[in-house]
Amino acid sequence: MKLDRGYLIVFEGIDGTGKSTHCRLLGDYLESLGLQVQRLFEPTIGYWGMKIRKLLVEGRGDISPEEELSWFINDRKEDVEQNIQPALAKNKIVILDRYYYSTAAYQGALGLNPEKIIRENEAFAPKPDRVFLFTTTPEHCLERIQSSREKHSAFEKLEYLKKVQTIFDSFSDPVIRRIDSIPPADEVHAHLRREVSDLLPLPK
Ligand code: TYD
Repeated sequence: MKLDRGYLIVFEGIDGTGKSTHCRLLGDYLESLGLQVQRLFEPTIGYWGMKIRKLLVEGRGDISPEEELSWFINDRKEDVEQNIQPALAKNKIVILDRYYYSTAAYQGALGLNPEKIIRENEAFAPKPDRVFLFTTTPEHCLERIQSSREKHSAFEKLEYLKKVQTIFDSFSDPVIRRIDSIPPADEVHAHLRREVSDLLPLPK
């Protein structure tokens, strides 16, 4: 089945909410309907994305918040140009694990202005059709992170995640739908299916 335009669906939320699993499940579901899906994630594995990943593992060191922000923006510019725009031009459904709302929340939590970050991104990055913002308590996230991984990245400290969460909570853009990630995965997935059936012209 071919859509008459591309759709950009973004997944956002603090670490450990299970959003990457739900990206996969929703992508599989849409493909099972015969739709063309492009799965992407940020940070990417391009030049800037790999620099960011090193920072995530090794810690921030003496890198300033402004410099860190510029790395995420450079990474996104590459992703928009090389992956997102071309897929949308082919009328695909792009399922994107993190986008500029993460930048506003995470780099905003370092003291930068979240609204300004959104404006800077919207100057070059296509606006999503829908943003699924996964919600949970930071304590719950930390539990999941600690039980599933050995190493904790510098980004996963509880106090920091609380600030990130507060900024995510403040967003009021109408493209955002909040998804409670606490229920079992099959319930969350069913919720997402209902959401996309409102958004996409799916076969009934
Ligand atoms: P990732 O390995 O994708 O974590 P997860 O699977 O939990 O999403 O790493 C993403 C990390 O990068 C995550 O801690 C959030 C952070 N991040 C930012 O700080 N700013 C951004 O703009 C993006 C896209 C991610």
